[in-house]
Amino acid sequence: MPGIKRGVLISFEGVEGSGKTTQARALVDYLENKGAPFLFVRDPGSTEIGESIRQVLLNPEYKIMNPRCELFLFLAARAQLVYEKILPALNDKKIVVADRFSDSTLAYQVYGHNLPKRLISIFNRFASAGLKPDLTFLVDIDVLKGRSRGKINDRIEGLNRIYHEKVRRAYLRLAHRARGRIKVLNGERSVEELKTEVIGYVNEFLCKKGYKL
Ligand SMILES: Nc1ncnc2c1ncn2[C@@H]1O[C@H](COP(=O)(O)OP(=O)(O)OP(=O)(O)O)[C@@H](O)[C@H]1O
Ligand SMILES: [Mg+2]
Repeated sequence: MPGIKRGVLISFEGVEGSGKTTQARALVDYLENKGAPFLFVRDPGSTEIGESIRQVLLNPEYKIMNPRCELFLFLAARAQLVYEKILPALNDKKIVVADRFSDSTLAYQVYGHNLPKRLISIFNRFASAGLKPDLTFLVDIDVLKGRSRGKINDRIEGLNRIYHEKVRRAYLRLAHRARGRIKVLNGERSVEELKTEVIGYVNEFLCKKGYKL
């Protein structure tokens, strides 16, 4: 793709069951059909080391896990993902679609667990090599509605409703502060409606970046 210097990073965020993975996959299918260069990742995960860390993080038997331990495991998985997969893909001018990224740390660990924001923002940047998503979709939904869509079977999903309400509010606050980057989607709309909205935004965004779809 002449004229493009570097790829872009598009992330999907939101509480459990909001529809992040569904929309991220739909976007990836769209990009694939268009023949656009892409990389689809999930955070934590998408590297051998990251997938192992993910299993530790989400193991429902580890109820004892301290929030600080949780934080560093998420950051460790992200660092591996960024350096092993995302940075090379961006250098190859790919469109990287991430099912969760650094905003999850702020919503779940900083606001959800009341950990210190300034310090963790520094760790978060360090783990991500200073990389921030270029565009983020926050799929917003009522916590109970999101939960009712699936089984609660991992450790973090199993935390109480008050925790997840805090996470949802935190996400909305982050979106308000970063209005240019974070687009809030109403997760109660149908999969198809959301898909149309996401693809509309992404087309416009990629066009401005010089991609020809
Ligand atoms: N807009 C929608 N309306 C109704 N159901 C939906 C919608 N989007 C996704 N679903 C369904 O809700 C369930 C959860 O969706 P999905 O896995 O995409 O959510 P998620 O945000 O990735 O969840 P998790 O946080 O657990 O990874 C799935 O069964 C999916 O088919
Ligand atoms: Mg998912």
